[in-house]
Amino acid sequence: MENRPQWGTRAGFVLAAIGSAVGLGNIWRFPAVAYENGGGAFFLPYLFALLTAGIPLLIMEFTLGHKYRGSAPLTFARLNKKFEWLGWWQVAISFVIATYYSVIIAWALSFTVFSFDLKWGSDTEGFLFGEYLQYSDPGTVGGIVPGVFIPLILVWIITLGILFKGVKKGIEVANKVMIPALVILFLIVVIRSVTLEGAAVGLEAFFKPNWSQIANPQVWVAAYGQIFFSLSIAFAIMITYSSYLPKKTDITNNAFITGFANSSVELLAGIGVFAALGFMATQAGVSIDEVVAGGVGLAFVVFPQIINEFPALNGFFGSLFFICLSLAGLTSLISIVETFVAGVEDKFKVSRIKSVAIGGGLAALISILYATRGGLNFLDAADYFINQFGVALAGLVEVIVVAWFLKELKNIRDHANNISDIRISTWWNISLGIITPIVLGFMMVQNIITNIK
Ligand code: PHE
Repeated sequence: MENRPQWGTRAGFVLAAIGSAVGLGNIWRFPAVAYENGGGAFFLPYLFALLTAGIPLLIMEFTLGHKYRGSAPLTFARLNKKFEWLGWWQVAISFVIATYYSVIIAWALSFTVFSFDLKWGSDTEGFLFGEYLQYSDPGTVGGIVPGVFIPLILVWIITLGILFKGVKKGIEVANKVMIPALVILFLIVVIRSVTLEGAAVGLEAFFKPNWSQIANPQVWVAAYGQIFFSLSIAFAIMITYSSYLPKKTDITNNAFITGFANSSVELLAGIGVFAALGFMATQAGVSIDEVVAGGVGLAFVVFPQIINEFPALNGFFGSLFFICLSLAGLTSLISIVETFVAGVEDKFKVSRIKSVAIGGGLAALISILYATRGGLNFLDAADYFINQFGVALAGLVEVIVVAWFLKELKNIRDHANNISDIRISTWWNISLGIITPIVLGFMMVQNIITNIK
């Protein structure tokens, strides 16, 4: 009925979905979340969340995109006219994320270069906040932090350049190159990490199960939160990507491959990060608890310190790590920006070139705000807001609308089973119709309570 672009190969689609899923969340979020929520015991709720929410929702989103062949707003509109807003809401969340996710990738690019001569020195925290992120040169126009500005422009040139080229020649080719490269480079980093002195101390801390945590509802909430963020669910992404699938494809299988590949990278990151932390704790003669970190602190403060201590080839391993971070981030950023590019294209019937220029250009302009004096606070606020209210709420509304309001689960299941080798059964309906809404609902209430406090 319309000529929608299509993936050239099945591997192209799967790699793009994995590219979206594997991001900063795998490398710097998962290890710390697992450690804080029971260590080895966290794997139980994590696996439960993967099997009852992660993969079932991937199957649902892949099917919706495949069946209705539209960006998220168009897909929901075709499902039922009344729910187009749900697609736009998810697109809006992705838009906000794109504006700051791009900034972090810019930092990773800068740090790749800083690695060469360990430019961060011995006070890595002072370097990050006092030097790199500071507006230190009063002569600079408009208060822009020059160190961030240039790599940020580079991030946007790469991302929008790829999106301009379209689904098959742009997104697919980029992921086919970047994801295998990421896997190989990351394996090198992890192997080096586990062979460092003291690595075993870190691994022991990471895997040691704290079973008493299992009864703590917060731990289950953390597991679901990690799975949602990590698999890029309820962000309009997976619906958009699967709208480019050819008629003949195996949806359920693709969802399992994407889910397990993403979790494998998380496990690998946990091993690499904790081995390195064990090395650092041993060098400093302190306990693991004193060096554990996640997020910005892990990647841009603690990791540079670890690199400083490396016995040899510091610069080489430092830049490898930051290249991995950049690649993981870029393939996710491409997918987030594609959600609003596709949304605008479908809604206003404009060309791809125009929608990339308008949608991507606007996100790029806003992201530059974070590269100005004081922009960091802005970034923190956006991140907090999205994590507290964006992810869980959009996911909750999506399952309730599809499962309860529109009672679409049966149609979706039939559609997926018609074209897939693996047949989904009642576990899928129970997971999406009952377990997931209950857990997510609980998550929302928890969030509200902690925010009121
Ligand atoms: N899945 C990505 C990660 O693990 C994060 C992401 C979330 C990407 C939302 C796009 C949209 O980092």
